[in-house]
Amino acid sequence: MRTVVTGANRGIGLELVRQLQARGDTVEACVRDRGSAAALAALAGDRVRIHAVDVTVPATVRAFADALGDAAIDTVFNVAGSYGGPTQSLGQMAQDLALGDVAATFDINAMGPLRMTLALLPHVRRGATKKLVHVTSGMGSIADNTSGGYYAYRMSKAALDMMSKSLAVDLLREQIISVVINPGWVQTDMGGPHAPTPVADSVRGILRETDAATLADSGEFLDWKGGRLPW
Ligand SMILES: NC(=O)c1ccc[n+]([C@@H]2O[C@H](COP(=O)([O-])OP(=O)(O)OC[C@H]3O[C@@H](n4cnc5c(N)ncnc54)[C@H](OP(=O)(O)O)[C@@H]3O)[C@@H](O)[C@H]2O)c1
Repeated sequence: MRTVVTGANRGIGLELVRQLQARGDTVEACVRDRGSAAALAALAGDRVRIHAVDVTVPATVRAFADALGDAAIDTVFNVAGSYGGPTQSLGQMAQDLALGDVAATFDINAMGPLRMTLALLPHVRRGATKKLVHVTSGMGSIADNTSGGYYAYRMSKAALDMMSKSLAVDLLREQIISVVINPGWVQTDMGGPHAPTPVADSVRGILRETDAATLADSGEFLDWKGGRLPW
């Protein structure tokens, strides 16, 4: 299996690279800044190659796709994400109607995975498993939103979810699978120290659900523990 992972220098992305490499897969690991990828660099070799890709910069996404040549990619893991800026409450946002943090978070969390998908579709069409896996969040669920706030993050993940659904519809005839998956509340820089789930457990769940996903699951909202989450 040959895979692409974004956000591969830390957190869920880095652990995905570790587990994919350990089971014998080849990983094209994308990081925004090679300078902050020391842990990933330690894994680099024949089966883990590091690429500089900022998912908000189209030229870097295109250059990465070009560098892959006519290679087949089996699964793309869109992992890179941002929790949004510190001003996501109603009161704070009212001070800046430019909504710069909201736009920046959309660019990373929703437009970034769309850019990656568009650039890599030719490679995925040549792949064997043909899977697009976008890491979303329970905070993107409208049905599950009982506490409000976090506008930038919640809105961007809900947009990502809709992107995945449209991809599933548009790519059904080509038998390309598109799913979003909730990784749980995970012990990473983003999840913080109080998160209950070790990153290795979350990633084992993500891989188990990814491997099990068939065309019948395309367009669904998967959960790392199995089952489905409500939209
Ligand atoms: N941790 C949780 O509890 C949790 C819960 C639900 C969903 N998620 C989702 O899971 C994914 C991974 O989260 P995490 O916990 O591993 O977060 P993390 O530890 O904060 O890592 C975020 C990753 O995204 C990368 N990134 C951010 N902006 C980027 C850009 N413009 N281009 C390329 N890479 C970029 C970061 O690179 P830099 O190091 O260069 O910043 C880093 O590798 C995210 O999509 C997040 O929303 C996490």
